[in-house]
Amino acid sequence: MHFLAPHLLLALPSAAAKPYSTWMADSQIARGVTPTRWYTEATFYRGVEAVANLTSNATYLTFLTQSINAILSPNTTSSSPPFKGWDLTDHQLDNIRIGSPILFLLQTTHSPNPRQQQLHAAATFLHTQLVQSQPRTASGGFWHKSPKYPNQMWLDGLFMALPFYASYVSLFQPTNVTAWDDILLQFSLIEAHCRNQTSGLLKHGYDESRVAVWADPITGASPLVWIRAQGWYFMALVDVLEIFPRSHPGWERLRGWWVDLARALRREQDGGSGGWWLVMDSGYPGRAGNYIESSGTAMYTYGLLKGVRMGLFMGDGDDAEKYVDVARRAYGLMIRKFVTTTTTTTGDGLINWEGTVKVGSLDGRGDFNYYTGIPVAQNSLIGIGPFILASVDMERANLTPM
Ligand SMILES: *[C@@H]1O[C@H](CO)[C@@H](O)[C@H](O)[C@H]1NC(C)=O
Ligand SMILES: *[C@@H]1O[C@H](CO)[C@@H](O)[C@H](O)[C@H]1NC(C)=O
Ligand SMILES: *[C@@H]1O[C@H](CO)[C@@H](O)[C@H](O)[C@H]1NC(C)=O
Ligand SMILES: *[C@@H]1O[C@H](CO)[C@@H](O)[C@H](O)[C@H]1NC(C)=O
Ligand SMILES: *[C@@H]1O[C@H](CO)[C@@H](O)[C@H](O)[C@H]1NC(C)=O
Repeated sequence: MHFLAPHLLLALPSAAAKPYSTWMADSQIARGVTPTRWYTEATFYRGVEAVANLTSNATYLTFLTQSINAILSPNTTSSSPPFKGWDLTDHQLDNIRIGSPILFLLQTTHSPNPRQQQLHAAATFLHTQLVQSQPRTASGGFWHKSPKYPNQMWLDGLFMALPFYASYVSLFQPTNVTAWDDILLQFSLIEAHCRNQTSGLLKHGYDESRVAVWADPITGASPLVWIRAQGWYFMALVDVLEIFPRSHPGWERLRGWWVDLARALRREQDGGSGGWWLVMDSGYPGRAGNYIESSGTAMYTYGLLKGVRMGLFMGDGDDAEKYVDVARRAYGLMIRKFVTTTTTTTGDGLINWEGTVKVGSLDGRGDFNYYTGIPVAQNSLIGIGPFILASVDMERANLTPM
């Protein structure tokens, strides 16, 4: 006889005969993923990393290995980039995200030496690109993209670069205090310019030179809180917190920023659906054209579950269970509304992922009409990856959706 917590006594939906983590990963692999080194694929790979880790099933490591092999240059010399088609004049944080699956493979596979050396060379190349070649603002923040977005930091970029930066430093330069300070600085610049201390929410980005059409004349911030930018940021916080040295005073600051955002997300969760709105600023939820967006909802669910698992609410007077329930409600919405099946009765079919807004940028005015005018896509890898991450955490903790 097992004594289960009350929420575990709820029947699993019949469609969940197979765990959603592997079901979604398998479905996407079956649909096909063209290997590229772009952040969209890399975000899907992140989900596959978590599934490989959870199941120890070699299928997923093989998939990751083949995906990375396909983008590495076969004949790297010390003077040529280790990636096919790399443009050395292109400096954007989106290019760095692929470093995470590379470090994951480096740590988890025991392939022959030349192969390990190739992965190591690729990771070192990305690290060098980031710390030596990525342009920075006067305060030391990485530009999101050069030359296109000078002096701009976007929340998105922190997920693209910092979990990799932190993993690389923890593996190869663990006592490099300059590097840990640099990682902390990136978050603190975003906090100083983008966080609204009243709502706890963060604007999409800021321009330190304050010349972008959208830049606030005082803070430099863009006009609105966009669900996915904040989702990237929340995932960056929780992923970096897992790696950042607890002995460094910055760890406590990072934890505080995660807690503040977790509280804001709990307040802003849509009461009816359990998800979050595309544009989240005060007065916008419920407005015509705004909607509950799936990739951001998945990112928040993952960030909350992982943070609770890591014990990040220590001593804040918050009941972590309340946040687990926020995540369970959001997860319930996802499997009811955003996961669709081709055969709903047997559970044998592939599952799809719905409702993810396509790429959003700060290229234009960054206003409500811009964000709500972006189309929504089916089976977007930047929604699927975070959904798999959230599923892995739900399954690890034996949680049922609400
Ligand atoms: C792998 O699992 C460990 C705990 O079992 C966890 O701490 C780590 O974050 C996981 N890594 C990935 C990439 O999911
Ligand atoms: C590993 O995963 C694949 C894909 O889901 C599945 O077909 C296979 O049965 C799994 N193997 C084991 C040993 O569970
Ligand atoms: C790899 O080698 C081939 C054949 O020598 C050459 O054509 C190609 O340019 C090389 N690629 C790189 C990235 O060096
Ligand atoms: C320490 O980190 C900084 C910033 O990333 C880097 O420039 C420097 O080369 C690193 N030093 C060593 C000894 O690894
Ligand atoms: C900050 O948040 C408060 C509370 O939601 C809101 O009234 C205010 O307009 C926000 N400020 C900005 C600049 O968005």
